[in-house]
Amino acid sequence: MRDKKVIRQAAEIIKKGGIVAFPTETVYGLGADAFNPLAVARVFEVKRRPYFDPLIVHVANHTDLDKLVIEIPSDAKKLMEQLWPGPLTVVLLKKAEVPDLVTAGLPTVAVRMPKHPMTLSLIGLVGSPIVGPSANPFGYLSPTTAEHVRNQLGDQIDFILDGGPCEVGVESTIVSFFKKRPMLLRPGGIPLEEIESIIGRVEISPLREERPSAPGMLPRHYAPRTPIVLDWSKKNLDSYRDKKIGLLAFQEPKNSQKFHQIEVLSKKGDFREAAANLFSAIRRLDALNLDLILAEAVPEVGLGRAVMDRLRRASGRSEIIGR
Ligand code: TXA
Ligand code: MG
Repeated sequence: MRDKKVIRQAAEIIKKGGIVAFPTETVYGLGADAFNPLAVARVFEVKRRPYFDPLIVHVANHTDLDKLVIEIPSDAKKLMEQLWPGPLTVVLLKKAEVPDLVTAGLPTVAVRMPKHPMTLSLIGLVGSPIVGPSANPFGYLSPTTAEHVRNQLGDQIDFILDGGPCEVGVESTIVSFFKKRPMLLRPGGIPLEEIESIIGRVEISPLREERPSAPGMLPRHYAPRTPIVLDWSKKNLDSYRDKKIGLLAFQEPKNSQKFHQIEVLSKKGDFREAAANLFSAIRRLDALNLDLILAEAVPEVGLGRAVMDRLRRASGRSEIIGR
């Protein structure tokens, strides 16, 4: 009952042109009516996001989807049928009515149907698709709890819809259907293997720095204040002797004495659990005024691919994500 009331309140705010943080299964988003350019502009301002970086639009049903896209290729349709609602975003040719601000002038729009029940009913009550970039200042880690949002943007937004901690913990997987062959623009909450089991081989977009088609692809992104280092080995740990170091471990480490603090992503080495814990763990380490965070590499299979992608970007490394 209480939920219903707050969801209605949030929907009214969005309808009047306000901006509301909302929960999804991946990370919290910053929502505004996708067809209200003034409200969308405020989302960019609050996030300090460059206008060349287009937003994902969230839908609750196929009527919403029809307002956004011209045509849906059959592979895209297959993915939507099997994976929506869920952490998959598809990039499709947009309708002229979609404001250019939303898509940064691109001929395409990125769309997803999130899985969180509160947000599905929110979008339903608004009666219009809502934009939803992650609810963090540009370049910083995405929020996975309402409290993360409150700490970073609380005083600048109109409402926070608290739906508890995000289940998946990394952003959606983005697949573009703009070119002839489907292309992975950002690894995320749905493993590439699962997508390929439905539509066959998908190309992987190389990382680009200028005018990126997904700035989540910028080499330094999803970054905390404390430097994160991925390239280190147990052998050269001594060279960090005078430093206050945190360890971001995948599983329980054997030798823990050298570290000021340790965060273990998944004791049993489970990728899903690791992804769900990733951003919160980095935030906790970032709050300790460490000199350095050493991060352990994770095998790049399943959700491990998204985890490694975010770790690379958090550490400012820019190699191409290969297979
Ligand atoms: O899981 C998610 O996707 C979350 C939750 C809130 O739904 N949202 C999210 O949004 O991660 P954001 O704005 O932080 O990341 C969206 C990414 C950006 O890297 C953007 O460049 C890319 O999607 N993007 C948006 N529209 C695009 C388009 N038309 N073509 C290519 N990339 C696009
Ligand atoms: Mg983001």
